[in-house]
Amino acid sequence: MKSKRGNPWERAGKGPLIAPSLLACDFARAGEHIDAALAAGADVLHVDIMDGHFVPNLSVGPPVVESFRNYTDAPLDVHIMVTDPAYYIERFADAGADSVTFHIEACAGWDETVGWDERRVRPDGPVRESHLSISPARRVPPSAAKHAQKLVARLHELGLGAGVSLRPGTPAEALRDVIEQVDLVLVMTVEPGYGGQRFMPDMLEKIATVRGMLRENQRLQVDGGINPRTGRRCAQRGADVFVAGENIFGSRNIAAAVRDLRTAAEDGAKRSRRHRPAE
Ligand code: DX5
Ligand code: ZN
Repeated sequence: MKSKRGNPWERAGKGPLIAPSLLACDFARAGEHIDAALAAGADVLHVDIMDGHFVPNLSVGPPVVESFRNYTDAPLDVHIMVTDPAYYIERFADAGADSVTFHIEACAGWDETVGWDERRVRPDGPVRESHLSISPARRVPPSAAKHAQKLVARLHELGLGAGVSLRPGTPAEALRDVIEQVDLVLVMTVEPGYGGQRFMPDMLEKIATVRGMLRENQRLQVDGGINPRTGRRCAQRGADVFVAGENIFGSRNIAAAVRDLRTAAEDGAKRSRRHRPAE
């Protein structure tokens, strides 16, 4: 189904965007948590999809995204940590996602004779690789970019935003042949799979490298261990979309957490090379 709301990354202005991660909210009180985050000025809602295979954890699927969609008109930024992105993007589009970010490491290949409409359910049969075999240090095969291009094109055809993500062990170079087409690059700042982990400072260099590869109107998202302190450091390197779970929904004051993260992100952006006046 084609998105009625359109690509949220095209609509948004230039400043930093705050994306609370609903993985950290109390699902039984999700509406209340969503309201609090939006009232405090959150820009998009980040939804983490984990398949227990690409990452060693399970979260939620399309019906939960649909419930969020029925509850709010805010943009839903769906991050799919799944082995077979080609088999799921249609379903998350149907469920009401506004943007889908998939992992380049999961783009090794798929059966190209199967049409998009038939891909709503993954066929039976052995799945190719799990998080156990996708070692962080393994090189992403060159075919990945070709498949990633097709996913991006399909997401755009559906009217959705398209993001591509890098695990901590995957170099920026893996995106070379697809980066031009995407709306957003997500640099994971923890190993994907769980909320509440510690930020990996080693990722700062990769953030700066990716920013150097992007056009001004393409977004650079960071996700994992983001709080005002780490968010500011990422903003200084050029990140401009800040996902935060524990720091926002684990806080007693959700509104203050959203505002503090925005202030830190704006402060970091002012100090970044991007916004320094040319010498
Ligand atoms: C991790 C997810 C994150 C997670 C971030 O695999 O992609 O979006 O919710 O959680 P915090 O901000 O708690 O590290
Ligand atoms: Zn995420």
